[in-house]
Amino acid sequence: MERFLEGKGCLITGGASGFGRGVASAFAERGADLILVDINEELLHETSKNIEKETKQKIVPIVCDVSDAKQVKQMAEQAFSELDNIYVLFNNAGTGAAYGVDILKVGEKAWDLTMNVNLRGQWLIDKYMWRKMSRQKFDPLRGKIIHTTSIAGRVVDPLIPVYSISKIGVIALMQLVAKSLAPYITSNAIAPGFHVTGIYGNKEDIMIQTMKDGNVKTPLNRIGTIEDVVDIMIFLASPRSDFITGHTFPIDGGIVDVGVPPNILKSDI
Ligand SMILES: NC(=O)c1ccc[n+]([C@@H]2O[C@H](COP(=O)([O-])OP(=O)(O)OC[C@H]3O[C@@H](n4cnc5c(N)ncnc54)[C@H](O)[C@@H]3O)[C@@H](O)[C@H]2O)c1
Repeated sequence: MERFLEGKGCLITGGASGFGRGVASAFAERGADLILVDINEELLHETSKNIEKETKQKIVPIVCDVSDAKQVKQMAEQAFSELDNIYVLFNNAGTGAAYGVDILKVGEKAWDLTMNVNLRGQWLIDKYMWRKMSRQKFDPLRGKIIHTTSIAGRVVDPLIPVYSISKIGVIALMQLVAKSLAPYITSNAIAPGFHVTGIYGNKEDIMIQTMKDGNVKTPLNRIGTIEDVVDIMIFLASPRSDFITGHTFPIDGGIVDVGVPPNILKSDI
């Protein structure tokens, strides 16, 4: 395994579970020391301990609500005092409320929670991390930011209306940050499709039901895995992606861009 992250620090929000946890293990295996940020204190400590034990890298858990500016500011200060650099920032924490509710009937609490965590949260993380990242002495890039949007940010999904709006916002944020931080820091986004993680209670049947509700068929005829996301994240964290900024990478088995109508696909899932 290429240890291309040796000597590099990585900060991962939503690091306790799902994509964040999978990517954390993969980055630590490639030599990175990590700051793992999450609101779920118990799971965060468990994940951090496990990865530290398996990889012998330095793993620092920081409990922080990414939608709270004060907490994000403090977290960013602590992160740079624990590690001497943050080369990769995986801006990934997310949540969703108001499943299956028409956009015009969504409650204000559900709107605020989803928008605050998914969009305000990613903006706050960029806002309080970029300055120190941009002063780092790495060459040719001083750092990389990777945001997590969704296929629902590529094509609006009426079953998850507020989530869709928040994830479209993440793509806009990612592109604006790419302009602001060029040529020193790249900014990209991943757009996963349907993968069993904490967002579905780690239950495949719940995820399959949401796919059925939305009449979703997958051209590549299987559900997504956490490893599918880890693979593209390894590429985006590596020097092999150094000439890429401002882009969104779907990992969805072709759902969004192949986009053929479900009734002509020979697919079970
Ligand atoms: N699972 C999928 O199929 C899928 C598809 C597209 C996009 N996504 C996105 O992937 C990202 C990661 O989610 P996941 O699927 O791994 O789910 P997950 O629930 O396993 O992980 C999300 C993590 O974010 C944390 N979190 C939630 N609110 C937070 C807050 N306010 N502050 C700090 N941490 C907070 C949770 O505690 C959890 O550990 C999210 O942005 C999600 O929207 C997931």
